[in-house]
Amino acid sequence: MSKEISIGLLGSGTVGTGVVRVLKENADDIAKKVGGRIAIKKILVRDISKKREYLEDIQLTDNADDILNDPEIDIVVELLGGQHPAREYMLKAMENGKHVVTANKDVVAQFGHDLFDMAEAKGVDFKFEASVGGGIPIITPLKECLTGNRISEIMGIVNGTTNYMLTKMTEDGSDYASILKEAQAMGYAEANPAADVEGWDAARKAVILASIGFNTRINLEQVSVEGITHIEPADINYANELGYVIKLLAVAKDYGEKGVNVRVHPVFLPSSHPLAAVKDVFNAIFLRGNAIGDAMFYGRGAGSLPTASAVVADIIGEARNIVSDVHSVIGCTCYNSRAFCPIEETESSYYVRLHVDDEPGVLGSIATAFGESGVSLKSVIQTRKVGVHAEIVAVTHVVQHRNLQKAADVLQGLKVVDSIRSIIRVEEN
Ligand SMILES: NC(=O)c1ccc[n+]([C@@H]2O[C@H](COP(=O)([O-])OP(=O)(O)OC[C@H]3O[C@@H](n4cnc5c(N)ncnc54)[C@H](OP(=O)(O)O)[C@@H]3O)[C@@H](O)[C@H]2O)c1
Repeated sequence: MSKEISIGLLGSGTVGTGVVRVLKENADDIAKKVGGRIAIKKILVRDISKKREYLEDIQLTDNADDILNDPEIDIVVELLGGQHPAREYMLKAMENGKHVVTANKDVVAQFGHDLFDMAEAKGVDFKFEASVGGGIPIITPLKECLTGNRISEIMGIVNGTTNYMLTKMTEDGSDYASILKEAQAMGYAEANPAADVEGWDAARKAVILASIGFNTRINLEQVSVEGITHIEPADINYANELGYVIKLLAVAKDYGEKGVNVRVHPVFLPSSHPLAAVKDVFNAIFLRGNAIGDAMFYGRGAGSLPTASAVVADIIGEARNIVSDVHSVIGCTCYNSRAFCPIEETESSYYVRLHVDDEPGVLGSIATAFGESGVSLKSVIQTRKVGVHAEIVAVTHVVQHRNLQKAADVLQGLKVVDSIRSIIRVEEN
């Protein structure tokens, strides 16, 4: 076991510190698994004067070139976050012949192709297991264990903040604003929560999952993104009454000749669906393959040690390659060029909640508006008064999104309709 593999970390915050801990605490086992020891040679941070637990015996630097240009470093592990300079540092590391491991979904979703191109040109490896689902293994399973399948559908709860918030709204009956404050106080939501609550964090992960699952390059700009900011306690209650729970899902579906569609939005999920049981900050990815059938991957989608688990697995995989003097045979897997199915052509059943004038004949005009737009209704319930208005909830049969939008436009124009409070897709088992 004479070989030593040198790594350099870019960043030692939440994940970086976890990576150092796992590599140190499991060092003897890891060395046996690899056939050589993994040594952390240097770590890049912004502030080298800051006191840091677990890092006392490791050289810190605030100059990225100390790592990127160090000929002794075999693997660069990028854990800075954000797009820049993370992207440029990874490209430079590859240019200098180093393998790269990252947890950075922002860079992988937006610039994955640049990084794969550079990795191929330089004969190095690029790994990013931790970029989706934190500690949950999903990139390697998709690329390796499930590669014999044709994947038709991926649905993921891939954002812990919003899953925590929706769980609390469901269990405590609280409204969005107060749960957001609670999530911020507990450190589950950032001071600026936009990326989480507006669905963009999930969208980046959806891009990565769909690109690998469908073997075709998906761009973030193609993805329809809707967050949870408009979900009201009334929606949570109706979901519950009708036998569903509301979850924010990253959805990637194969529509055959129409292409593939990727989107993020809240969904009414049947309470019996495996994803409905995924609560709090937990994440899960549910997928359907033509050989395996349904499968679900569940676990902690964030956190220092869970995320480090995935990063360290990538480091170990690469270290094994170095010891055996081989490099990964699986690079970019986007060998297809699938069309993107526009959101208007996707189909779903929908829940629509309206506030309308409380007078005779209103239900009839609403049913006509739906019918004339090509939307057939499965059920309509008028349950309560909200101020001077009546609240109506309609659940549609499976219809094209385009028709549902048409119906919403017509309804919005009706004199008897005060407001459309919510439109949420309904997923059936
Ligand atoms: N946190 C999670 O649970 C989680 C889960 C999955 C994936 N990820 C991904 O993992 C990556 C790291 O996340 P994190 O939560 O560990 O971030 P973090 O706690 O903010 O840590 C970032 C680290 O990078 C350093 N840094 C940032 N910009 C720098 C720059 N321009 N030059 C030098 N050093 C710089 C910081 O230095 P200082 O220490 O001096 O400030 C810090 O050590 C991100 O891509 C994130 O999306 C995180």
